[in-house]
Amino acid sequence: MAGSTQVPLLLRAARGEIVERPPVWMMRQAGRYMKAYRDLRDKYPSFRDRSEKTDIAVEISLQPFHAFAPDGVILFSDILTPLPGIGINFNIIESRGPIIDPPIRSLSQIEKLHPLEPLESLPFIREILQTLCQEVGDRATVLGFVGAPWTLAAYAIEGKSSKDYTVIKSMAFSEPAILHKFLHKLAEAIGTYACYQIECGAQVVQMFDSWAGQLSPQDYEKFALPYHQIVVEKVKANHPHTPLILYINGSAGILERMPKSGIDIVSIDWTVDMAEARTRIGSEVGVQGNIDPCVLFGSKDFIRERILETIRKAGNKRHILNLGHGVLQNTPEENVAFFFETAKQADKLLAVTA
Ligand code: CP3
Repeated sequence: MAGSTQVPLLLRAARGEIVERPPVWMMRQAGRYMKAYRDLRDKYPSFRDRSEKTDIAVEISLQPFHAFAPDGVILFSDILTPLPGIGINFNIIESRGPIIDPPIRSLSQIEKLHPLEPLESLPFIREILQTLCQEVGDRATVLGFVGAPWTLAAYAIEGKSSKDYTVIKSMAFSEPAILHKFLHKLAEAIGTYACYQIECGAQVVQMFDSWAGQLSPQDYEKFALPYHQIVVEKVKANHPHTPLILYINGSAGILERMPKSGIDIVSIDWTVDMAEARTRIGSEVGVQGNIDPCVLFGSKDFIRERILETIRKAGNKRHILNLGHGVLQNTPEENVAFFFETAKQADKLLAVTA
């Protein structure tokens, strides 16, 4: 008993233990809505510097931990961070987002990519994660994260954020063998990278396939799901007890298919009812998310109501309370603080309203 209370709440919940209340964290909890983050961004304008220089990345990762004491502390980084390590350079430009120049469009470019050697190309990730683990101790769970092959390929092939994904889909629907070759290489690299994060201290890893919701269900089964399986198999072979979360934006049409990836927890957006999602996902897999990030622009009563409703629908088993996507720019910090305070009293509040 004494041993198990030292395992942080989020990790216990993710492993399927019955817990006293659902753990709570948010994506992009370090982001543009926080004044402390914007101040550091002014001082260090390059995103690559902010996320790859250990001291700055650690400080940014800890900003929300110090401000709100969430149950999960996510590494400040980006899904694109491992790409230079396989031979794809990138930059993130304010108000334009990620840029990959030249984009990957040909077989010869794909053949030139090399396997990821994280110790060589991502030494800062080790330093950041190890420092975060020391700073956080058993007060919260340290989360690592990776992008899934389809979403990384979408950025690499389109060269930037896209509305309709015509370039990658043209490749998928006219030269699928070339795309599969690329997705395969990415899956190997991402599997290696996720294992490395765990070896550096990440206790849970979330995989983002943000743009896989742009695929029809049959194409999800061809171009996204098999590569989730490669990543998950590699991680589970090396670290069978580390819980994995899968997030897809716009996943309402493919919820039943997501557990086939082998992940432990499905993170859902807000276009589906939590109770229905639970039923559709099945009892073997846990659930996270579902609260519209715009709820944080609502009144305090409204925020409280949505938190309690989400918990009532999701239950207490393998449920991680979270937004259906990241915290939006201009979100009042005060409301984020209120969200965390309320979430942490949820067991008492639910007992009162039951
Ligand atoms: O949540 C956290 O605090 C950890 C940090 C984190 C970032 N990106 C930092 C970041 C995480 C988990 C991500 C994941 C990520 N990055 C995803 C998957 C999640 C999702 O949004 O669906 C994707 C698709 C990316 C690619 C990317 N990087 C986008 C779409 C953007 C925003 C572009 C824009 O200008 O709005 C980035 C840049 C980025 N990554 C920012 C942050 C805080 C904002 C830019 C900045 O602060 O300079």
